[in-house]
Amino acid sequence: MAKNFEGISSMSRQELCELIDYYKNNDPTELFAAADAVRQQYYGKKVYFRGLIEFSNYCKNGCYYCGIRNGNKNAVRYRLSPQEILECCEKGHKLGFRTFVLQSGEDLYYTDDIMCKIITEIKSRFPDSAVTLSIGEKSKETYERYFEAGADRYLLRHETALDDHYAKLHPKNLSLENRKQCLFNLKEIGFQVGAGFMVGSPYQTTENLAADLEFLRELQPHMVGIGPFIPHKDTIFAHEKAGSVKLTLIMLALVRLMLPQALIPATTALGTADPLGREKGLKAGANVVMPNLSPVEHRSDYALYDNKICTGEEAAECLACLSRRIASAGYEPDFSRGDHCSIKFEYCFSRTGTN
Ligand code: 5AD
Ligand code: FES
Repeated sequence: MAKNFEGISSMSRQELCELIDYYKNNDPTELFAAADAVRQQYYGKKVYFRGLIEFSNYCKNGCYYCGIRNGNKNAVRYRLSPQEILECCEKGHKLGFRTFVLQSGEDLYYTDDIMCKIITEIKSRFPDSAVTLSIGEKSKETYERYFEAGADRYLLRHETALDDHYAKLHPKNLSLENRKQCLFNLKEIGFQVGAGFMVGSPYQTTENLAADLEFLRELQPHMVGIGPFIPHKDTIFAHEKAGSVKLTLIMLALVRLMLPQALIPATTALGTADPLGREKGLKAGANVVMPNLSPVEHRSDYALYDNKICTGEEAAECLACLSRRIASAGYEPDFSRGDHCSIKFEYCFSRTGTN
């Protein structure tokens, strides 16, 4: 049965559930081809490279699925100094990266003043590059300060869009309502915003996945990160099953069809769950990869889940490996800033006016 995807932008939750279940039980090749074609319309064969800097694995939160949650006494904690972060950018810039993604746990060591200084310094040394933050839930005022300091984008996965499921993955002090509010605040401030979710997290139902699609349709984010859940040995979910690669690819393709212009990474988790996961992600509609620029000595300590790939490779090695793999899959590595295609020109005006 060939499906008509046109209606995806107006499907009910029930219809989305049926679509997801249909491809779970049938060959999704046609779905992947449709998603690949839609991506091609806006971005051609380009795959954007982002340099990921995991600058601290301290975290005040206790998300049940996450290997660097606060209660994990086995985690070896580290934080990079502003100087070390800048050195990662320097190395990345020399390698050709024009987007730096600064990611960490929710680490209160980096006050607003420290973060803003880091952002300002990166933007002044590398004015041709975009800065993306992925450092969790903050007040609207703090997000405004980051933006004024020059940050361009912000990643904050919503994780799951229904309250009861959110409560099964997070401790009581964290709420979905606040997380969603953060995403709307970020958008209002003017960030290019990334949301996203894990596939196959414990207790997840098809309805949860359909609700994730509905939430993305409402938020209209610029970026969407999707990866399979992978258990971490020091969490209460240590013995849960990992998310399925096939279902992750189905969700990725459906997001591409729903948000044709989105920037969607082929995630490290996807590459961890399947040696060819990232290539499969590209063929199902992804168009971003995020190789790691963090110092190799800390790589394995930023372990959100077990068996994470690329923890022993130098940035240059990962870069060469990934470029090769992307080219052999028929795509074109691209090192430009890779902004969301709808706001490229608007960006130039809004930012050059204020700087
Ligand atoms: N498996 C897969 N992804 C995970 N993340 C956190 N823990 C895990 C895990 N065990 C994801 C979350 C988070 C992102 C940075 O990594 O979705 O937002
Ligand atoms: Fe890191 Fe291949 S992408 S080694």
